[in-house]
Amino acid sequence: MKNEKNSVEKQSSVKQGAKFSGSLGYILAVAGSAVGLGNIWRFPYLAAKYGGGMFLLVYLILMLTFGYALMMSETALGRMTGKSPVGAFQSFGNKKWLKVGGWINAIIPILIAPYYCVIGGWVVKYLFEYLRGNSTELSTDGYFTTFISDSLSAEICFAIFAIMGFSVIVAGVKHGIENVSKIVMPMLVVLAVITAIYSVTRPGAWEGVKYFLIPNFKNFSIMTVVAAMGQMFYSLSLAMGILYTYGSYLKKDADIEKSTKQVEVFDTGIAVLAGLMIIPAVFAFSGGDMKTLQAGPSLMFITLPKVFESMGMPRIIGSVFFFMVLFAALTSAISLFETSVATFVDELGLSRTKSSFLMLGIVLLLGTASVLGFGAWDFVTVLGMSILDFFDFLTNSLMMPISALFTCVLILRVVGRDKIAEEVKLSSRFKRQKLYDIVIKYFAPAFLIIIFISSIASVFGWIKI
Ligand code: PFF
Repeated sequence: MKNEKNSVEKQSSVKQGAKFSGSLGYILAVAGSAVGLGNIWRFPYLAAKYGGGMFLLVYLILMLTFGYALMMSETALGRMTGKSPVGAFQSFGNKKWLKVGGWINAIIPILIAPYYCVIGGWVVKYLFEYLRGNSTELSTDGYFTTFISDSLSAEICFAIFAIMGFSVIVAGVKHGIENVSKIVMPMLVVLAVITAIYSVTRPGAWEGVKYFLIPNFKNFSIMTVVAAMGQMFYSLSLAMGILYTYGSYLKKDADIEKSTKQVEVFDTGIAVLAGLMIIPAVFAFSGGDMKTLQAGPSLMFITLPKVFESMGMPRIIGSVFFFMVLFAALTSAISLFETSVATFVDELGLSRTKSSFLMLGIVLLLGTASVLGFGAWDFVTVLGMSILDFFDFLTNSLMMPISALFTCVLILRVVGRDKIAEEVKLSSRFKRQKLYDIVIKYFAPAFLIIIFISSIASVFGWIKI
């Protein structure tokens, strides 16, 4: 029975194996998954909240060590086994912990997708309002809060975004979308550079540039590390099975190390640009008011409309910008749906169409809870957080460290680092193998445990968030 199941899984993976004809297709798909709301919406507000330059420094160190090692590991394990996470873990045996390890990787995208679509819906709303010429209203204080507390319109925007994403999956035009992103992404970079230059040169903005780029040790706390770590997983689409799945579609001659490096550079570049667009603007437009810096998830939606309004031609700039953000968000959402659907097909034996509708149902259900959490249900808090924040915290700060830990243990205890190196070397040199070994063997496990404990401690108020 087990063998039969394995061979079915293998078949489905092999069928999908035709997906990436070369490494360019792979890089586009992984970059499409990586670059999204995490870079443009999440990174700037976390950097603003958790210490500016200190957060950036910790993030960069983590990305170059941990992020690199995990990305290499997940891709190599996916390619080695030809399977998405649940199958990949189980191809190393029948032990219970292997099952748990695979499933925790697979469940995370199912929990992220709903609230990701809620924020996608906010982007839909802003695009729509810019197109209608309502830029001045968008830039007034309180607009965003009023919008999200109106559950009906937030729900409609959320549903529009979710259905757009699923239509792409069901219609099977994912590749078309990836090809268009070859044009849209560079345009997004150009517009982000122009906006960042504008922001940085506003009177009073220089303080913000310094806050964002220069580390100040006074701003360091364990929560800086916890937040930076969660953000790194989130932004690179790590610790949630995506790269196992994409790796399983990868040909044996594609250079894993090179593509990993390219995705890391591109992803981090966009995040830093977004930081430069938003954080200096907060200083310029609100005089570095600590309360605005702590605005959290609403930061981008509060600050950018003000920037666009003062740039002139806000209707055009705002429309183009939010259109591009919407596109980046859609490609990421599609990858979230795609892996979740793959899990249902492989593990529950459902057809692709049924799996897609099941996933749409889950997204609409859990997403609606997040929407209501800012409106009709705003009295509901989970561990002191709004429903959306809770899902974000649960996945990024609690589940991802555990899932990354499972990957480390799988490599250290079962697969062996040499096997990973062998897999990488099938197609290229493994230039940073020493770094890889040190991170996976010594640094990662201890560190992940500390992060996990700190996250729990912060929930119970033992350490300050
Ligand atoms: N990496 C995406 C972003 O930064 O927006 C978010 C994301 C996409 C997370 C896909 C997880 C994922 F599986």
